[in-house]
Amino acid sequence: MKDIITLAIESSCDETAAAIIKNGREVLSNVVSTQIELHKKFGGVVPEVASRKHIENIDMVIQDALDEANLTFKDIDIIGVTYGPGLVGALLVGLSTAKALSFSLGIPLVGVNHIEGHIAANFIEHKDLKPPFICLIVSGGHTHLVEVKDYGEYEILGRTRDDAAGEAFDKIARALNLGYPGGPIIDKLSKIGNKNAIDFPRAYLEEDSFDFSFSGLKSAVLNYLNGKKMKKEEIISEDVAASFQEAVVEVLVHKVIKAAKLKDYDTIVLAGGVAANSGLRERLIEKCNQNNINVKYPPLHLCTDNAAMIGSAAYYDYIKGNISDLYLNAVPNLKLGEK
Ligand code: KG4
Ligand code: ZN
Repeated sequence: MKDIITLAIESSCDETAAAIIKNGREVLSNVVSTQIELHKKFGGVVPEVASRKHIENIDMVIQDALDEANLTFKDIDIIGVTYGPGLVGALLVGLSTAKALSFSLGIPLVGVNHIEGHIAANFIEHKDLKPPFICLIVSGGHTHLVEVKDYGEYEILGRTRDDAAGEAFDKIARALNLGYPGGPIIDKLSKIGNKNAIDFPRAYLEEDSFDFSFSGLKSAVLNYLNGKKMKKEEIISEDVAASFQEAVVEVLVHKVIKAAKLKDYDTIVLAGGVAANSGLRERLIEKCNQNNINVKYPPLHLCTDNAAMIGSAAYYDYIKGNISDLYLNAVPNLKLGEK
């Protein structure tokens, strides 16, 4: 079969990214221009600022991706692009660029669900990984526990009822004045803090539920910090970070292992920005070893937003015949499994 070369574009949040992927698994280039420094002073992503920066960056990022792969537009077979979920203005920059390229080059356009992209990051790293498996997707915007039954075929077992896991990390980091994004900083502090210092609540919810909730935990941490401030007592950020992370990790790992056992899966896959968390990885590996379950996760640079993962998901959509037309619009609240 002829090789299929995908040019993938991602601009759903604060990274402008383009990548070239061969046959859905091989990365020929993966360029990410992050806007983190720009948004840091606001303590989070400012949508309008993000859109404008995407416009400034996108042509350059695409050209860099082509140059790094030593290819030109003539070598590209399909264009893959994130069309949701995400910030509407940010999504539209990547999507409009992708449509223009698809039209002018006369090649297929494949709209990709960003969450599917996060899952597909694992296909790049683990060449022999194939569905079915259980996947825990934990990012700044999403927390899903899903059965991946086939490429592009999902059954959602549970999701967050309020904040996403990464959002909780970011909010707690902000309350501790640690900066943005909070996940990596909390992760680092947790290594030196005492995870048993503060007994924050664990939201297991109903016995048979695979849903998550992080708002109660967030309120508990904020109450703890306010109480300490009012009593003028010292706050040990390392201990707060470690105790908070422990409360998140314990519930995530418990539910994903329970789902794998109940549904009889022997492989658990992690995806999304919070999959970079060292505490989560360590605990999951330990529990999977105890239960004879394989565990896979992407390398750090493929956990957070990038276009390589979008290129992999686009390839599997394309070979299934899921090709988009030029009427494709951005869908800010696109759900997993929706086309
Ligand atoms: O997947 P991602 O890049 O963007 C979304 O699609 O949302 O995830 C970003 C999120 C942020 O909330 C960030 O704080 C979190 O992932 N994150 C982490 C770590 N690295 C990134 N959370 C916990 N531990 C980490 N090491
Ligand atoms: Zn993401």
